[in-house]
Amino acid sequence: MKFARLNALTVWLMTCFITILFTTSEAISANLTPVHLRTEYKQNPVVDVDKPRLSWELTATGRGQLQTAYQILVASSTALLNAEKADLWNSAKVTGNTTNQIEYAGKTLPSRTICYWKVRSWDKSGQPGPWSAVATWEMGLLTKADWSANWIGNDLTTLGKGKTYHLPPAPFFRKEIQLTAPVKKARLYVTSLGLYECQINGKRIGTDYFTPGWTDYNKRVYYQTYDVTANIKTGKNALGAIIADGWYAGYLGYALLVGNPVVKNFYGDVPLLKAQLEVEYTNGKTETIATDQSWKTSHGPILEADILNGETYNANLAFDNWSKPGFNDTNWKSSTVFPDKADRQIEAYPGNPVRAFQELKAKTVTPKSGGHYLFDLGQNFAGVVRLCVKGNKGDTLRLRFGEVLFPNGDIMTENLRKARATDTYILKGDPKGETWTPKFTYHGFQYVDVAGFRSAPGLDAITGIVLTSATPETGTFETDNKLINKLYQNIVWTQRSNYVDVPTDCPQRDERLGWTGDAQAYVQSATFNNDISAFFTKWLVDLNDAQRPDNAYPIYAPAPNVRKTDTYSPGWSEAGIICPYTIYKTYGDTRVIQKFWPNMVAYLKFMEAKSQGTYVYKEGSFAEVSPKGGFGDWLSVGKKTPPDMLATLYFGYAASMMADMAKAIGKPDEATYYTTMFTKIKQAFMAHYADSNGRFKTNSAAYGNGEGYVDGEMGFEGHTQTAYANAIYMNMIAPNLTPKAGNWLVDLIKANDNKLSTGFLGVKPLLPSLSMTGHTNQAYKLLLSTEYPSWGFEVVNGANTIWERWNSYIKGKGFENNAGMNSFNHYAFGSVNEWLFGNAAGIKAEEAGYRTFIIRPELAPEGINAVNASYQSINGTIVSSWKKEGNRVRLNVVVPVNTIATVFIPTTKPESVLESNKALTASPDIRVIGTRDGFLQVTVGSGTYQFSAVI
Ligand code: BGC
Repeated sequence: MKFARLNALTVWLMTCFITILFTTSEAISANLTPVHLRTEYKQNPVVDVDKPRLSWELTATGRGQLQTAYQILVASSTALLNAEKADLWNSAKVTGNTTNQIEYAGKTLPSRTICYWKVRSWDKSGQPGPWSAVATWEMGLLTKADWSANWIGNDLTTLGKGKTYHLPPAPFFRKEIQLTAPVKKARLYVTSLGLYECQINGKRIGTDYFTPGWTDYNKRVYYQTYDVTANIKTGKNALGAIIADGWYAGYLGYALLVGNPVVKNFYGDVPLLKAQLEVEYTNGKTETIATDQSWKTSHGPILEADILNGETYNANLAFDNWSKPGFNDTNWKSSTVFPDKADRQIEAYPGNPVRAFQELKAKTVTPKSGGHYLFDLGQNFAGVVRLCVKGNKGDTLRLRFGEVLFPNGDIMTENLRKARATDTYILKGDPKGETWTPKFTYHGFQYVDVAGFRSAPGLDAITGIVLTSATPETGTFETDNKLINKLYQNIVWTQRSNYVDVPTDCPQRDERLGWTGDAQAYVQSATFNNDISAFFTKWLVDLNDAQRPDNAYPIYAPAPNVRKTDTYSPGWSEAGIICPYTIYKTYGDTRVIQKFWPNMVAYLKFMEAKSQGTYVYKEGSFAEVSPKGGFGDWLSVGKKTPPDMLATLYFGYAASMMADMAKAIGKPDEATYYTTMFTKIKQAFMAHYADSNGRFKTNSAAYGNGEGYVDGEMGFEGHTQTAYANAIYMNMIAPNLTPKAGNWLVDLIKANDNKLSTGFLGVKPLLPSLSMTGHTNQAYKLLLSTEYPSWGFEVVNGANTIWERWNSYIKGKGFENNAGMNSFNHYAFGSVNEWLFGNAAGIKAEEAGYRTFIIRPELAPEGINAVNASYQSINGTIVSSWKKEGNRVRLNVVVPVNTIATVFIPTTKPESVLESNKALTASPDIRVIGTRDGFLQVTVGSGTYQFSAVI
C-alpha cells in the first residue's frame, strides 16, 4: 500500500475501518468490480506519454468496502489478455487502495502499440473480484522521425483583401490512392497550422471541430489520430482535407480594435496541412500515404473562414464529390511543400476535442424590417447554425448573431465590437433544398438575424449546434428554489460556452482569449460540473509555454501579443500556480506539479524579487504594468480595493500552495522554504495593510488621482469586502484576528444594504469566507438576493448565462456599455459554484483526489429547503442531498467504494441523529467523532446513508 501518499489520519481511519469491518462482516466477496477504466483521464485514447497513468472506479455491494490490492494486466492483443498472458505488463498483486494515477510500468511501448488492459481488485476481506471489462490505449507517433508527411499549403494570401478584414479562401487538398490488398488496420494521423477537416471517400473523418487546437505554434502543434479502417477499401480511395486560418493565421482578440500593428497572422501567414495515412494490410504489409507536393489543391466554395469574423460559402463553387475517387482534378495544382520548424514539437492532443454537444431548435422566427427574419434559439451559447433553405441560384443569405435583443426586439450586436461574426451563404438553387453548416468559425449567440430570404422561412431553416470541449459531465445540483436552479443552469451553460479548446473569457466578441484571471477564479467551480482534467492538462501546457522571459505568467494563454502593452497582472498571473494546484487537489495529479515545478518556482522568484525583500507590495508597486497595478478586482462596484494589496494576498496564497505542492512531490526542504515565505508575506501584509485591530487600511493618497489604474477615479479603500474575503479565504490573517475579519466583512455587507460589491477577484472567496467565519446566513442572503448587484439580479433580468457585468442588462432600462465590454457569457461571476457544491451541498476534498472527503452541508435559514447534489470524483460518485422537514433535516449521502467521508450532520440535538431510522450506535459502519459548531461529526466508509436529525 502506498501509505506515503496518505495522511496519518487516513491511515488511522482506514485501520479502524478494516478492523471494524473484518470483525463485523463475513469474509465473503463483495464483488469489487473496477469500472470506468481510463488512461491519461480518457477512455481508450491515443497518447504519447512514456508512462501513461491508469485509473478506475469501483463498484461493490455492502457498506465500507475498500480495495486492499489490485492487479493490472496489459497485453498487446485481446487474445493474449483474455488468456491472461500479459506480454506488456503484469503488475502482479499490488497491496494498496490506489485506483488512479497508476503509472504503467511495463515494457517500453513503441509508437503505434495498441495496449489492451484490465484490472481486478481485492476487497476488504482479501477476496479478489472479477476482472474488469477490457480497455485500451494506443501509442501515437512518439518522435518526429515517425512522420514522413510534409507540411503542405496553397498560398492564397493575395486573395480576399477586404476593406477592414483580409479573409482569404480556404484551400482544399486531395490525393487519390490505390490500395493493393484487404486492409486490416488504418490510422490517419493529421494536423495543421490553422484548422483542418479531413474527408475520405466523401465522408468527414471524426466529429471534432477546430482541430488540431490552439497552441503556441512556434513551440508545439498537436495532431489527432483517427481509426479509419472502415473508411477505406482495396482499390481506389481518395483522401481530402480543407484547411483554414484558424488561430494560426486568423484574427485574434481585440488586436483590430486597439489598433495593434499586427491584427492577424500571429503565428504564420499560410495555413498548412500535415497528414499521413498508415495502412496495415491483412497480408502483413504496410503502406504510408503522406502529404507531399503530389497532393492536388484548389480553392472553391469557402470564400472566407475566420474564427472571429465568420464564414462565407458560395454553393455554386462547390466541388461535388471532391473527396471521392474519380473526381476530375486536372484544374487543381500541385501543393507547395513548406519547411518544418526544427524546434516545433508535434504531439498527441492531450485535451478533449471540441464537439457538438446538442442541437437547439428555433423557438420563434419573427419578420423584421428590411426583409430580415430573426430566429430565437431559446438559449445563449457558443456554436454555429445549420441552415436548411430553398431558394434561387445566387440568392444570398447573410446571418448575424447576437446574444440579446434591444427592448424594441432588434438584435444587439455592438458588444461584438470588431468581431464581424457574420456568416454568408450563396445558394445554388437546388429545388430539393440545400443545407449548410460552417466549419471553421463559431459565434456566441441566442438570436440569428437573417437577411436575404425570398419568402418567410420556417422554424427549421435555422438549427443551433452547441459546440464545446467534450469534458465529461460530473456534477448535478438542484434545490427547491427556482432562482438558484436557474443560476446553476446559467453557470453550466457559461462553462460550456467558454471551455472551447482553451478556457476563454467569452465566446462572442473580439476576445475569446484564455484570460488567466478568469480561468483561475473559476477553475475550482468548473471541476464540479465537468471532468476538466484532460482539458487543463492541455491548457496548462499553453499557460507554461506562454510564461514570459521575466518568468511572470501572462494575462492570457496562448499569448499572441494582441496589444503591445499586454504583459502580466497580479491575480491573473497566479493562474500558473492556482490551476495546477486545483488539478492536483481534484484529481490527485502530482505529475502536473512535477512537470511545471521549475516554471512555478521561477514565477515565485519573480514575485519575491518584485517585493524587494519586504514580502509586501506597498501601494504603487506595479505602476509599470498596464493598466497600473494590473486588473485588480475587475468590475467591482464602488471604491476599489488597492491592486497592490490584492497582489500581496495572491503572493501569499501562491507561496502556501507551493508549500503544499512541494510536500505532494516529496520536496520537504522546498515545502519548508515556501511555508516560511508564506509566513513572511502574511506578517508583512498584516503589518502594512491592517491596524492592530485587524481592520484593513491603505495609503490611498499614494494612488494620487488614480489615473492609469482600473477605475482609479473611484478612489481606493483597504477596508472592503474583497479585501476581507480574499484574506480570509487565503488564510492571510493571524488566527486571533480572523473572526474579527469575518465581522468586518459582515459589517461591510450590511452597510451596503446587504449587497455585495465584489468584482472578479472578490466574488470567488466572498461566500466561502463568510462560511469560514461562521456567517453562512449572510452568505445565503447574498445568494438569494435579486437586487443589483447580485446573481439573482441577472436571473430576474432574464439571464440564461452568467454576465460579465452585474448590470449587463436591466429590464426597462437597457444595456450598460455595449460597445466597450458587455458580454452575456462570462464565467467569472459564476465562481459562486464553488460555494454551491462546497458549502450548500458541503462536498469538499480532504486528501487530494477525494480519497477522503468531507460532506458538511450548510443549511439555509430560509429560501431553500432542499439541496440535491452529486459529484463524480476520480474516486467515484459522491452524493449529498438534504431536505428540511419540520424540525428535522434529512441528509442522504453516497460515499463511493474505497473512500472515506467525514460527514457533518447539522443538528442542535446530537442525540436525535438517526441513520436509516435507527440510532447511530446501532450501525457498525458509522463512527461518531463528536460535535462541532452545530454539527455531529461522523466518519463512514462507502455506501448509502440516510441520516436525519433535529435542527
Ligand atoms: C476580458 C476579461 C479579462 C479582462 C482583463 C476583459 O476584456 O473579457 O474577462 O479578464 O479583460 O481584465
